Amino acid sequence: DVQRTLVLVKPDGVARGLVGEVLRRIEAKGYTLVALDLRTADDALLREHYAEHAGKPFLQPLVDFMSSGPTAAAVVEGHRAIEGFRSLAGATDPTTAAPGTIRGDLARDWGKKVIENIVHGSDSPESAAREIGLWFPGL
Ligand code: CMP
Repeated sequence: DVQRTLVLVKPDGVARGLVGEVLRRIEAKGYTLVALDLRTADDALLREHYAEHAGKPFLQPLVDFMSSGPTAAAVVEGHRAIEGFRSLAGATDPTTAAPGTIRGDLARDWGKKVIENIVHGSDSPESAAREIGLWFPGL
């Protein structure tokens, strides 16, 4: 099944100069970039993007972090690309994310209220459709 997934290189990844490294891993895996844009997300977009985390204690720190600087947003396509990118990204917590993954190799815990973990990838076909519609309306 050809799928599209929304990938974000979060502000920590952009600030650390890791956009190229993340895109390199996606392209080396054989997935296709169908959209790519650098922008600073505003609170309204982020609260919609993170609607499932409404009410969680890390939501406000997460929105503050995600609006703190530019994010590289991409739509990535390929057979089973949703599951495939999540495998490339590794587990949410970078401390225990497997070495070899983006988070395992490149991210760490800085002791902040929010987990800064370099990348986001949609977690299901429904999330991917919703998130791509938010970040790339008209695609
Ligand atoms: P992401 O895949 O973008 O989805 C939600 C984000 O919230 C997640 O990556 C982390 O950046 C952050 N996050 C998830 N769980 C926690 C947590 N327990 N504490 C702090 N931040 C979290």
